[in-house]
Amino acid sequence: MKGVVFTEFMELVENRMGLEMLDRIITEAKLPNDGAYTSVGTYDHAELVRLVQALSNATGNSVPQLIHMFGEHLFQRFSVNYKPLFADTHNAFDFLARIDDVIHVEVRKLYPDAELPTLPCERPSADTLVMHYSSPRGFGDLAEGLIAGCIRHFGETIAVTRTDLPKEGALHRVRFDLVKQA
Ligand code: HEM
Repeated sequence: MKGVVFTEFMELVENRMGLEMLDRIITEAKLPNDGAYTSVGTYDHAELVRLVQALSNATGNSVPQLIHMFGEHLFQRFSVNYKPLFADTHNAFDFLARIDDVIHVEVRKLYPDAELPTLPCERPSADTLVMHYSSPRGFGDLAEGLIAGCIRHFGETIAVTRTDLPKEGALHRVRFDLVKQA
């Protein structure tokens, strides 16, 4: 996983819960590099899970809850840090439908070794979008949080139903059904 995801996570913990909490979870997570990440480096995604697990132990919030919260925050950060990717997109459905073919393709140009999920979308009707998450990493909670952040960014009211599907070989799969609310 790219260091940019780690640095965003650590910044969030520091800003919301303080440096002491950040130090505490870095120690508890027993990271190989003592929590020193550079944004362009690549690290084992299990280290992020260990940090979140440590934060869960310290706060009592569940790991899925914390990853979801992080995803929602991360989207807001992406909207600031990768502004050009938001040009010409004015609603959540159009943006989400572009992740697989455009957004993550651009991300891969920036970071050739990025480990990205596949996120193909269908638009069965004007008011509905179905997104299929598939990845060896099992970050369905992160995807859910990013989707929530995207909806919030565009200021829309969209109901999201998540369905965890059986694994296909090494791939974790989650289906998200999004329905625009009147
Ligand atoms: C401007 C918008 C976005 C940018 C710039 C972006 C960029 C990135 C980056 C840099 C990574 C890390 C890759 C790595 O660690 O090697 C990543 C991973 C990921 N992205 Fe995106 N992303 C965006 C939007 C989204 C949205 C809306 C979703 C919602 C489904 C999404 C789902 C994910 C997930 C779940 C991962 C974790 C890796 C995995 O599960 O395999 N991304 N993205």
